[in-house]
Amino acid sequence: MNRNLKIANSMLDLIGEIPLVRLNRIGMETGTEILVKPEFLNPSGSMKDRVAIRMIEEAEKSGRLKAGSRIVESSTGNTGAAMAFVSAVKGYDFTAFVPSDVADVCRMSIMQSFGAGVASFDVDGEFAEFTGRKRCSDIEGSDTGVWWSRQFANEHAVAAHRDTTAREIIEKTDGRLDAFVASIGSGGTLLGVGQALKEYDPKIRVIAVEPASYPMFGPHRRQSIPGISGGIADQLIESGVVDDVVRLDDEAAIAMAHRLAKEEGIFCGISSGANVAASLIVASGFEPGKRIVTCLCDSRDRYFYSEAYIT
Ligand SMILES: Cc1ncc(COP(=O)(O)O)c(C=O)c1O
Repeated sequence: MNRNLKIANSMLDLIGEIPLVRLNRIGMETGTEILVKPEFLNPSGSMKDRVAIRMIEEAEKSGRLKAGSRIVESSTGNTGAAMAFVSAVKGYDFTAFVPSDVADVCRMSIMQSFGAGVASFDVDGEFAEFTGRKRCSDIEGSDTGVWWSRQFANEHAVAAHRDTTAREIIEKTDGRLDAFVASIGSGGTLLGVGQALKEYDPKIRVIAVEPASYPMFGPHRRQSIPGISGGIADQLIESGVVDDVVRLDDEAAIAMAHRLAKEEGIFCGISSGANVAASLIVASGFEPGKRIVTCLCDSRDRYFYSEAYIT
């Protein structure tokens, strides 16, 4: 989002260039400055707009995506919404495959509002989390007019964060930060930003946040299917950019999202709450005067109907 822009050519011009916001109440006791990046200010409401536009425009450049192509992706919400938004502006047909166990009415309505098709499917069995990716793979394999963006393995998803999110963090802090904290979905944010920050200053600590109930790092790592899983998450683990991992339970993440709204006026979702709660844990191990940066991935309104979120 170029804030000096008077007339944008389309909503795509409003992606990114999001400032950092200082927390003024939460975490004050730590003596560490916590700066949050409200990525929910992106047009479709999450940081995935950066990824969607980059993946789509790289596919256009390579000739893989042409006028009239159909795009498919497996997503529980934000990537689906972002792909639907960019597809709407560019005139592509987009279908999201959403697992029924997490098919939230709000998130599906956002995708549908941008004109996307939403195909919900039942998940069961050992490799349930890969069902959506398998669907995309099958459809792409049987129809040359279909392109699957492969958010979990697409190198341009990582590059989007390396070239935009990380650049903005370095520019907007004048390069003065001590740690970057981010939760992991595909792993794209942490890998892209982590790589760029380590290249800029290897002393900046890069901290991963993951649900205590669903660890990606360590001995209880979740299972994967070769060829469908792997991708960015595996690269992240092997990259060596992650200095530490903070595990949080859902309640701590939800409670922090509530605090952010009430104490800072920041209307963000659950993983954003997790990022800030984890930042406080990281800050407690720092001497005063340090600075932590974290992202607020999406907005809270998309969780209104998730029962667990309403307390
Ligand atoms: C709400 C939310 N938070 C965090 C993440 C993690 O982002 P990444 O995929 O870059 O690891 C995602 C990814 O989908 C997300 O939707």
